[in-house]
Amino acid sequence: MTDQIKQEKRPRVFSGVQPTGNIHIGNYLGALVQFVELQNTSDCIYCIVDEHAITVPNDPKELRDHIRDVAALYLAIGVDPEKSIVFVQSEVPAHAELGWILSCNAYTGELSRMTQFKAKSHGDESVGAGLLMYPVLMASDILLYDTDVVPVGNDQKQHIELTRDLAIRVNSRFPGTFVVPDGRFVKSGARVMALDDPTAKMSKSAPNPRSRISLLDDPSKIKKAIMSATTDSEGSIRFDVENKPGVSNLLSIYSAFSGKTVPELEKAYEGSGYGAFKKDLVEVTVDALAPIRTRYEEIRGSAELDRILDDGAARANAIAERVLRRVQKKFGLGRK
Ligand code: AMP
Ligand code: TRP
Repeated sequence: MTDQIKQEKRPRVFSGVQPTGNIHIGNYLGALVQFVELQNTSDCIYCIVDEHAITVPNDPKELRDHIRDVAALYLAIGVDPEKSIVFVQSEVPAHAELGWILSCNAYTGELSRMTQFKAKSHGDESVGAGLLMYPVLMASDILLYDTDVVPVGNDQKQHIELTRDLAIRVNSRFPGTFVVPDGRFVKSGARVMALDDPTAKMSKSAPNPRSRISLLDDPSKIKKAIMSATTDSEGSIRFDVENKPGVSNLLSIYSAFSGKTVPELEKAYEGSGYGAFKKDLVEVTVDALAPIRTRYEEIRGSAELDRILDDGAARANAIAERVLRRVQKKFGLGRK
């Protein structure tokens, strides 16, 4: 049955972003650019994963706001609601229901070994169990739509592997239950590093605002962050992650925004200093982000945004309910 699904349809794409503030160029270059790219060749479903956001302490009012922020950002970067489904996770109850079924097929050992769980729990036994279950809910998001392809940043590789493991595990007991998905990663930008510390990944929550460039930052903020970015004392613009992590990170960002390859950039900046290189990178980044900011301002407060999310939830529910029913039947749940 799953083979049939694969043959008859365009590839199904699913991805999600947590509704938090500070969506940054790492999120954009690692994941979001792929969302737009895939729309013409695939059936795409893009989710705002609010249930994932409550796995760590959070403020309900801010969460509400951030749901709309991320929805507006999806549209602002070019996700087209005529082509793709855009919806909020908690508006499709099947995610949590499938999450329960999958949790009964996941091992506590494999979950407690996940890098992200270890990093976020700090070995503390009183952390919420939701943090342990986080990757199971993510697997349920993906498997609920018979997803073939999941565009994400590199940091999600382990979660995609777990999703595949769970799908294969259930399929070996009940053949044809799930489509086994693949992750999709970009070449340049799959792991954007922090500007102030290029050995750590750029993150939404780092205390130093100059460590990241948020998608909605104005030109002066972008300039400050790039001009103060950590480099090295060698003075040559060349890609060498081990010895020159700062410059290499800036080269990757430049390449991703300009479409020029890293060797092309190395050649163009041969003999020039970091100052000139950074100034050009400011310009390239400002130009890339300006149209996103403008569109975001238009969409964020519009009634159209609600209409799109209502429609998205209805379409997502229709698919999710069908798949959930199929899975429940395999497990012998319910009466029909
Ligand atoms: P999150 O904000 O954690 O929901 O992440 C949203 C998407 O952005 C996921 O696909 C992540 O893999 C991706 N992502 C997050 N941080 C980075 C980064 N520094 N570089 C590249 N991709 C990232
Ligand atoms: N865990 C992902 C992140 O932090 C967000 C996410 C939740 C997701 N469910 C998903 C991504 C399903 C892709 C598919 O980035």
